[in-house]
Amino acid sequence: MSSTAVVFPENWVWGAATAAYQIEGAVREGGRGQSIWDVFSHTAGTIANGDTGDVACDHFHRYPEDVALMRELGLGGYRFSIAWPRIFPTGSGRPNADGLDFYRRLVDELHAAGITPYATLYHWDLPQALQDRGGWANRDTARRFGDYTQTVEAALGSGVQHWFTINEPWVAAFLGHWMGQHAPGNRDFRLALQAAHTMLLAHGEAMAALRSEMSSAGQAGIVLNLAPCQPAGDTNADLEAAERMDGFVNRWFLDALYRGQYPEDMVRLYGDAMPEIAPGDMELISQPTDVLGVNYYMRSVVAYDPTAVPLQARRVVPEGSAVTATGWEVYPPGLYDILKRVHDDYSPTQLLVTENGAAYDDVVKDGQVDDPERESFLHAHLLEAYRAVEDGVPLSGYFVWSLLDNFEWAAGYGKRFGVIYVDYATQERIVKRSGRWYAGVTRENAIRGWQGERSPAIPPPLASASAQRVITPPPITPRLSRRRASSPHA
Ligand code: FCB
Repeated sequence: MSSTAVVFPENWVWGAATAAYQIEGAVREGGRGQSIWDVFSHTAGTIANGDTGDVACDHFHRYPEDVALMRELGLGGYRFSIAWPRIFPTGSGRPNADGLDFYRRLVDELHAAGITPYATLYHWDLPQALQDRGGWANRDTARRFGDYTQTVEAALGSGVQHWFTINEPWVAAFLGHWMGQHAPGNRDFRLALQAAHTMLLAHGEAMAALRSEMSSAGQAGIVLNLAPCQPAGDTNADLEAAERMDGFVNRWFLDALYRGQYPEDMVRLYGDAMPEIAPGDMELISQPTDVLGVNYYMRSVVAYDPTAVPLQARRVVPEGSAVTATGWEVYPPGLYDILKRVHDDYSPTQLLVTENGAAYDDVVKDGQVDDPERESFLHAHLLEAYRAVEDGVPLSGYFVWSLLDNFEWAAGYGKRFGVIYVDYATQERIVKRSGRWYAGVTRENAIRGWQGERSPAIPPPLASASAQRVITPPPITPRLSRRRASSPHA
């Protein structure tokens, strides 16, 4: 190995991540019930190109082939999600044995390939039957989630020791209930805050269920999408706007989970929109976890915008920055910054990067997919993960998003995040150049060819606020949400 290689710790987990609705397809097979994403994606005008997850990557049928590909990539861990409507097609009652069997087969296949399963219990596909009873606005949904978790743990617990409760409650609550871009497609800030609170309660219910069922070797926690928030310019107004954005996306969840209270500045700002908090809620939410999953895609550069209610803050992309095919800024140092900050301020026992990756407009040429941008994106972010480890952050693994190109929510199949290309017409898989590169990394447990630079894709420093090209979102107001350039998943 070259002397410039960066070698990762011995027990480091190299993984890849997916989510049920994005890859499984087979939405009417195996006794699966409808989810809010089935209904939403079949609603005209919600998804680019009218795409739906009906077939997706057909992983439900092709999982043996996909596990074989994971093995080819040398993965030590695979993070997948369990579709709640496969287990409880009508939201409650008796569990569906066929649904549990599917995940049992998948877990067995993973073990046979020497790959450790990391299961996420909720990656956004709420049973429609529960939505019909109020969905995440109904606190009872949290209890249903606890029951579902108990059932899944009892069925799969002998094969699964790594559990995540909820994936990105911020996205599911606010894109789904405020910005109208995700299922169930509401546009109501108060409803979104209630949904976020119920999701955190659901996390608490699931933690309690897992604790009572799991063996002592089991590990459980939540997955958050986190991003360092930096002011666009050096005015107080921008600084305060960045602080509010941080409160909205990061502190709201981190404070609740690790300090048992919502941040005071945000509670004041939200005023009447605050959800009902019953006695015991914050204790349930803040019970100890074993691991925090961090999904990192980009930082937030934030400008003051008095029209953006209620935050008066808006995200911008600095002029001249590199962006991916989704318009998301490429900013590798943000991964280090957020990991270090979470460690310093909240000290989770253990952290994992549970998602990180990029969409590019891949093309197949002579049966190959050459995606140097993705390779360089991953390389740069891995260096930042490594720096975090060196600086004492208890980070123990990295899961690339994603194993396969898949149904990218509101963007449909047009945005490809995989290290494996999927031809949706034939379901053929092609390992991309980035996937082959990743296989080398997992094999060596190291990144080669580091020339000592901090990161090959560091964008230029921030220009002054006035020089910045405003491209909006994560649409902090529904009004801004039409300008899609950098909006998550739009
Ligand atoms: C994350 C989601 C994941 C995928 C990536 C691109 O926010 O958790 O399902 O869509 O973004």
